[in-house]
This record gives sequence, C-alpha cells and structure tokens, in this order.
Amino acid sequence: MNTFAKLATQKSHSLRQSLTKRNFSQHSFKENPIIFNKINEFYVIKGKERVVGLWLLGVSATVFSMIILGGYTRLTRSGLSMVKWHPHRVGLPKNNEEWEAEFDEYKKFPEWYLVNQHKGMDVEGFKQIYFIEWAHRILGRAIGGVFMGPLAYFWIRGYLQPRMKRNLLLLLGFGAFQGFAGWWMVKSGLVNKEQTKELDKTPNVSPYRLTFHAYNAYIIYGVLFWMSLHLLRRPQEAMITMKNMADHNAMRKILGRAAHGLFPIVLLTGFFTAGIQGRFAVNTFPKVGPHWFYNSNHFNWDIPFWKNFTENKLVVQVTHRTLAVIFSLLAIKSIVEVNKLANLSPIARKSFYFFISAIILQVLIGMHVVWFPNPVPLANSHQAGAVTLLTALLFAMHTCRKVDPRHIKNLLGKMRVEDPQGFHNMMQKFNKHTMSKKEYEYAKKEFMQK
Ligand code: HEM
Repeated sequence: MNTFAKLATQKSHSLRQSLTKRNFSQHSFKENPIIFNKINEFYVIKGKERVVGLWLLGVSATVFSMIILGGYTRLTRSGLSMVKWHPHRVGLPKNNEEWEAEFDEYKKFPEWYLVNQHKGMDVEGFKQIYFIEWAHRILGRAIGGVFMGPLAYFWIRGYLQPRMKRNLLLLLGFGAFQGFAGWWMVKSGLVNKEQTKELDKTPNVSPYRLTFHAYNAYIIYGVLFWMSLHLLRRPQEAMITMKNMADHNAMRKILGRAAHGLFPIVLLTGFFTAGIQGRFAVNTFPKVGPHWFYNSNHFNWDIPFWKNFTENKLVVQVTHRTLAVIFSLLAIKSIVEVNKLANLSPIARKSFYFFISAIILQVLIGMHVVWFPNPVPLANSHQAGAVTLLTALLFAMHTCRKVDPRHIKNLLGKMRVEDPQGFHNMMQKFNKHTMSKKEYEYAKKEFMQK
C-alpha cells in the first residue's frame, strides 16, 4: 500500500498520532508552487504592478524627507514663524513691504515678544526661519500633488482594483487630515503658555499635538512603503516552500514581538522627548547625573503623576532611553533565535540583520544626542534613524509575510510523501505556534484527506 493509502485509512486519528506510528527511510518531497497572485486580485491589473509600486515608493520617499524637514523645522525653532494659514498662497513674500508685513504679523505672537525680540532678531533673521517653515509647508503640498496626479491617471486608465482605490482614497483623506493636524499643532504654539496648563511656559507647540502629528506622519510613511513593497516585490508564494515556511513564520513572530510590543512605545516616548526639548534635561548616559535612574526627587508632585511621563523633561528623556535600550537588547537577543532558523531564505536573514544594524545605529546616535544636545544635524539624524529603523522593520516583516493559504494547500496537494517520518517532523514544526490558524487548518485538512 502506498503512503497516501495508508494515511487515508487513518482519517479518524489525529494528525500527530497517525504519523508517529510510522517509520520510513527516505526524506524527499516534491515542491511545485503555483503562485496565487493576490496583487492582481486586490491591487492593480496585471502588468501595472511596477509603475504603481514605483509611484508609491516615490511618495513614501517624499514623506520620509518631509519627516526629516519637519524635525529640522522644530530643531531650528522655525515652526511658529508663519502665523497664518494660507492654503491658497504658494510663494514667499515678494518684496520688502510684504516681508515687513509678515514680520509685523509675527510680532503679535509670544515667540517674538518673549524670545526672539530679546535675541535681537531682525527681518533677515526672520526670513531664515520663515523660509524653513515655508519649505516644510510647500513640501507637504508637493506630496499632495505627487499623490493625487498619478492617482487620477491610474484611476482613469483602469489600473487600480476596487480595494486599492478604496485604500488610496483613505490614505488621501488621512494625508489631508495630517495637513489640518499640522496647523492645529502650530496654533497651539501661538498662544501665551501662561494661559495653558502646560508645564513649560516657553512658546512651543503642545507636545501632545506634536506627538500626534509626528505619529501620523510615521503611519502614513509606513503604509505607503508597505504598499509599494507589495507591488514591487515578487509574491511571497514564489519564495515560500515547505522547507522554509516554518522558519519564515518563526521569524515573523520574532519581528512581530518587536513591532507590536515596545517599538511603538519607544517612538511615542521619543516624540514626547522631542516635543518638550527633553534632550537638554540631562546630558549623561548611561547614568542620570550621579544616579543610575530617576528617583522620587526627579518627579514633580504638584502635577498629576502621569504628566511626568509627558511633560517632565528628565523623566520623559530617561523613560525614552530606558525603553529604547530594553527594546534594543531584546531585539539583539533574538539574534540567537533567528540563527537557529536553518532554513530561512538569505533575503530574510539579511533583512533581519539590516533591522538589527538600524537599531544599533539608532542607539549610538541617541546616546550622542544626550551627550551633545546642541548640534541640530545630530538630533535630526536621530529622527532619520528612527524612520530608517521603521523601514528596516517593515522590510523584514514584509520578507516573511504570510502566504496565501491556497498556496499551502497547493504545496501539500503536490507533495509525494516518500518519507512520512520526515514529513511528520516537518508538520510538527507547522504547529499552531508557527502557522496562522487558517494555514494550520488548511494543512491539517489537506493532510487528513490523503
Ligand atoms: C531603538 C532605539 C530608539 C528609537 C526607535 C528612538 C526613537 C526616537 C524618536 C522617534 C524620537 C523623536 C524624534 C523627533 O521627533 O525629532 C526620539 C527622540 C529622542 N531620542 Fe530616541 N530613540 C531610540 C533610542 C534612543 C536612545 C538610546 C537615546 C539616549 C541614550 C535616545 C535619546 C533621544 C533624545 C534625547 C531625543 C530627543 C531629540 C530631539 O529633541 O530632537 N533615543 N527618539
């Protein structure tokens, strides 16, 4: 009786019981993957993957530069120079009168009369900060343009599938909302802080609104980059075989722990550190001044306790760097786990090490920002490092993304099991912990039918 016939007689037994009873010699199975291309089902019509993918990659690159320019705007204290929102106006003031008029407007707001007036800022100095904020806003509009123009073209030419159209419209709405959120953030810096409950009374935008604005930018960037990877990379089904699937699933779990666990909180605390100029609070690392960590003396007991984690500069900075170090050590520890995955594809392994390298680099830059808080390029490169780290994480996650369950069904269907013991060993790896429930059910059902 051949192997399939033997297994067919045991349908009533569980998968594991039915296999452990057998002992076979040869381990060989045929893999003949058929690609189920969800891309053409859900995203774009056949043949247009590359052009639409490159467009989305280009938009994500402009969002990347927008994030860096946003950080530069904050670090050079330029963000409060344009005190009006002119959605219809594009150019800079044209002549001296227009510049003076803008400067006069600026003089009505606290950043001028509490800070820059005392620093002796003249119209030339004003032009410098105005130009940076103007460039930030213009780049924002340019992103709108490079998004909407090609979108309309692809839409009219019928390149996009209904689900893709819906996703892109949602993204467009989110982008427009981000523009409003930016202005809402700027407005919070144009008020006299004495009238607010914020701890720091210097004219800055609200750290809550800054965090909201920055987080949205990272989400927009991440979604765009992920979508472009989907369109530009080969379908996962072309890479996944019975041999490497379990290890890919295991790596996805390892990365998932990083992505859904500490990483978003490290980002969140980083935004708060940036939002309250927390880099100036303490300039020692790893020690916090003479101590190893903050203590009750560092807390401000006159404000609600939780506010210490959003507005108390020292507590916010130290919380951020501590969580960042814990996150980094956990990720570095996972090198051991990933090294055990012998069947991981080379690109998956490389993408994991890219992720680890980005973490190490980011920690090194972060330490230097604490030691040397003044140089703008240094603090700005910590911002760039965070987006690079997000990119590395998304790329690695994408490399070991889930496959279409139909692919597993197909692989199992094509398999000639000459070594059920080896097959059993493999199936044991494909348990509920390394496969998604749906994949597992497919695999089990297919196997039981043999
Ligand atoms: C994996 C590790 C890390 C990640 C993902 C991360 C992420 C971030 C992010 C997203 C920001 C906000 C940047 C901005 O909006 O301009 C930030 C700010 C900051 N981070 Fe980190 N960080 C990490 C490690 C560290 C470490 C280890 C330190 C210190 C030893 C540190 C110190 C700072 C400081 C001082 C700021 C404020 C910089 C500024 O004012 O521009 N970070 N971090």
